[in-house]
Amino acid sequence: MFGVTGDLARKKLMPAVYDLANRGLLPPGFSLVGYARRDWEDEDFAQLTYESVKQYARTPFRDTVWQQLSEGVRFVQGDFDDDAAFDRLANCVRELDEERGTGGNYAFYLSIPPKFFPVVVQQLKRSGLADPVSSEATGGRRPWRRVVIEKPFGHDLASARELNATLDGVFPPESVFRIDHYLGKETVQNILALRFANEMYEPIWNRGYVDHVQITMAEDIGIGGRAGYYDGIGAARDVIQNHLLQLLALTAMEEPVAFDADSLRTEKEKVLSAVRLPTDMVTGSARGQYTAGWQGGMPVPGYLEEEAIPPDSRTETYAAIRLGVDTRRWAGVPFYLRAGKRLPRRMTEIALMFQRAPHLPFAATDTKELGQNALVIRIQPDEGITVRFGSKVPGTAMEVRDVNMDFAYGESFTESSPEAYERLLIDVLIGDPPLFPRQQEVELSWRILDPIEEFWAENMKPEPYPAGTAGPPSADALMARDGRAWRRL
Ligand code: BG6
Repeated sequence: MFGVTGDLARKKLMPAVYDLANRGLLPPGFSLVGYARRDWEDEDFAQLTYESVKQYARTPFRDTVWQQLSEGVRFVQGDFDDDAAFDRLANCVRELDEERGTGGNYAFYLSIPPKFFPVVVQQLKRSGLADPVSSEATGGRRPWRRVVIEKPFGHDLASARELNATLDGVFPPESVFRIDHYLGKETVQNILALRFANEMYEPIWNRGYVDHVQITMAEDIGIGGRAGYYDGIGAARDVIQNHLLQLLALTAMEEPVAFDADSLRTEKEKVLSAVRLPTDMVTGSARGQYTAGWQGGMPVPGYLEEEAIPPDSRTETYAAIRLGVDTRRWAGVPFYLRAGKRLPRRMTEIALMFQRAPHLPFAATDTKELGQNALVIRIQPDEGITVRFGSKVPGTAMEVRDVNMDFAYGESFTESSPEAYERLLIDVLIGDPPLFPRQQEVELSWRILDPIEEFWAENMKPEPYPAGTAGPPSADALMARDGRAWRRL
């Protein structure tokens, strides 16, 4: 694991490794090698891992599990361009092969800024770590070499291609695992179960019934200590290019012919290539930047006052876009995507908003409180699905009002959902690719985003919105022009 001192490693990756071990899903010889610049011994890295597990693991801490795991923890100190350090790394993993029977199977997790990918990947090649091993050397079994990379997969189409070329020169495509952690979420995988394991939704899952779709990823947090990453990137590149477009693809795609990686990716790619941008970007998109405000009863600074953000930054912390999907199923149905930080609460959902009944045989006054039927996939928190429909209010009048029917994970299942990273890490280790986007999807997503980003850079400064509010006025105006409104946050 490269980048072991980073936030992601501490808060997500190491705890996920422990949780997998605790669930009995890792082989006893599993070993974790950290690589970083710090002048550390194995024990220091083990201590860091221990602390992060203690603080962030999902499952209870058990000493026996930790003991077993910690015996395989190693640390290699070095810079990314340090040949000798990579040679030490190669020795270290070879020793582990002998001592712990890891069998020459290596996954390289690049939890580092993308600008370091080329040098690390080249070092993996130079030191022989990335070399495929012939099966003769290991008695017929072919050890694997996989590389795991985290978004951002570039910052536009051109850089995404460059990045891919870097990886491609060293690892074959099937050995590259791109992490979009949204795909590791149970609720996201459940979109496919909901759609393709049931009969009742499919007939209405199309332009004949659906009026529009709203995909929301709202966060209450600001950018925290991530100024270096976030500034210049912004909400659209950070989460729309990947998470939200993946949600769109899963919502809009056709049934895959099989549940394997190729079939799934093919269907997602078809949707992504059918996405149509707004003809007028000014009215079809919105961009915002939070200013000082209140969150959870506390005053919070504006984006421009956050540490290390230049006072004239034009990075957006909120983005909304109206997209079309030019297919027989979705022609004419707008997909509204929005994502933002410092919004009133943390909430990710996909809402299919249905057309109104063609005729209401009730007094207009009785249906005043009847909205549009909706099917809402609650990705997080409060994971579940809501169906909203009109129902008669008890009494003598025929008054109809919206009610909700709810499926909540917590009520229906006794087992709690694994963290996305648990699922994704185990899939890397067993070499199961369906939950990892391939390069083609990444490129198609940049094709969608690039023209928007270019237009924004030239013509649209982000509009301020106070922290703790639901985004800039232009986002509401975007919906209002279409005679619609965002779901309340
Ligand atoms: C990451 C983004 O991909 O997702 C962050 O870079 C964001 O900006 C995070 O905060 C949100 O993840 P989750 O799982 O909490 O929705």
